[in-house]
Amino acid sequence: MKSSMRILAVITTATFAVSAYAGNHNLVTADVNDPVTLRINMMQNVGAATGLAAGMMKGEIPFDPLAAQAALTTINTAALGLSGLFPAGMEENMRSTAGPAIWADAAGFNSAIAKFIADSDAAKMSAPATLEDFQAAFAVVGENCKACHRTYRIKR
Ligand code: HEC
Repeated sequence: MKSSMRILAVITTATFAVSAYAGNHNLVTADVNDPVTLRINMMQNVGAATGLAAGMMKGEIPFDPLAAQAALTTINTAALGLSGLFPAGMEENMRSTAGPAIWADAAGFNSAIAKFIADSDAAKMSAPATLEDFQAAFAVVGENCKACHRTYRIKR
């Protein structure tokens, strides 16, 4: 019961992420000199991978271990690259939904990133071979989305 509730919560998060991706008016060209464009693209890729994961968890897309692993590694890659993309002095950017708490509580934000790295790494290393294992692994990863966004994102 508890784990199916968690999975439901993850699917809800994932659905949000997909609609954020699909209906996105915030598509920006990645510019190597502008970390805001890099992190927005990175998060949109995470959103796409989460959409694939959610599709498989809901049974809309047949479960495939390679596709599952691709989703998990995509998310892990983004987690690994996040920490360098929020330099000080770039707090105000109209395209960005990064919140002021990122800079006001840099240590907290860094531990949220560290947790995201650890959880996505554990899921990746578990290489789930069945839908059930994938759901369990993804539930742990998916909790990071909500937790971090709640504190470190703003609405525009
Ligand atoms: C450690 C913090 C953190 C975690 C964990 C995290 N995100 Fe994000 N996410 C952010 C921040 C910060 C932004 C805003 C980036 C910006 O606009 O500068 C964001 C933005 C987004 C966006 C909007 C991108 C756009 O179009 O502007 C999507 C979609 C997204 N995240 C999906 C996810 C999903 C899905 C997960 C979990 C698998 C996740 N995120 C995990 C911090 C996080």
